[in-house]
Amino acid sequence: MKLLTGNSNKNLSFKISKFLKTKLVHSSIKKFSDGEIYIEINENIRGNSIFIVQSVSSPANDNLMELLLCIDALKRSSAKNITAVIPYFGYARQDRKVAPRTSISAKLVSNLITKAGADRVVTVDLHAGQIQGFFDLPVDNLFATPIFARHIKKNIKQRKNLICVSPDVGGVERTRALARKLDIGIAIIDKRRPSPGKSQVMNVIGNVKNKKCIIIDDIIDSGGTIVNAAQALINRGANEVHVYITHGVLSGAAVDKIKKSSIKNLVITDTIDNSGKLKKAKNIEILSISNLLGEAIKRISNSTSVSDLFK
Ligand code: R5P
Repeated sequence: MKLLTGNSNKNLSFKISKFLKTKLVHSSIKKFSDGEIYIEINENIRGNSIFIVQSVSSPANDNLMELLLCIDALKRSSAKNITAVIPYFGYARQDRKVAPRTSISAKLVSNLITKAGADRVVTVDLHAGQIQGFFDLPVDNLFATPIFARHIKKNIKQRKNLICVSPDVGGVERTRALARKLDIGIAIIDKRRPSPGKSQVMNVIGNVKNKKCIIIDDIIDSGGTIVNAAQALINRGANEVHVYITHGVLSGAAVDKIKKSSIKNLVITDTIDNSGKLKKAKNIEILSISNLLGEAIKRISNSTSVSDLFK
């Protein structure tokens, strides 16, 4: 088994390689002056099982292309099998036609990864579980929920008035999973999107008065969903709002919005490399997903159960 990293999140790849006590495959990823990507694997990998770690995060198009070219290079170098480890699976939010004459990017990206030559995909908190069905390959969708549950149990001492909140109807399953682990109830926010990138809270289903709210979501992008959700909960009498989100996309002014918001603390994982971006954001914390990914890679290599990780 060998591990290769793309450029999107080298810090995470180094941590995974440390966990697995294995060196990263020696490779060069360069760009021509017109922006085309050039990949070379600088060591023999014939007959090896290769895990390529690459998030489809910003710049999403470059990082996606880099992933596809890496898979292609591995295939042409006679790797025995190739697992695309995609901690953040970008383009997943367009998973159905939301209006006539629109594309389904999640399906297109799945086709591209398959066509490039991947034999298996490992990812974390897919935007929608059904995206696994867009592949005719095994897809292991890992969850950050156990990491979040551990952090909550360690850091929020008074858990009597705790409630888990889903920021939209789509996130209810994820919210239930966390609430079950913490043995607490849930509330649901009825969110609408009047236009792309804008979000509006219509209603809060459930009583949040005098409660400590834990919002859980898969993605924080512009921050609009979470900042509005937190304010709606405070307006309805919540005492404090803690937020746990797997993928910190954090585009545009998201970090500033979070800093100025009523959110007590935001916890994200390192599926996307945000080092450097969050230096002065005191209410944002990053938990590493590296051991979870490392353990999953180990189990896949040894053909042992990945789902047992979540029991
Ligand atoms: C939407 O369904 C996702 O789960 C996130 O809630 C959404 O992508 C967050 O976007 P933003 O931070 O731009 O509101």
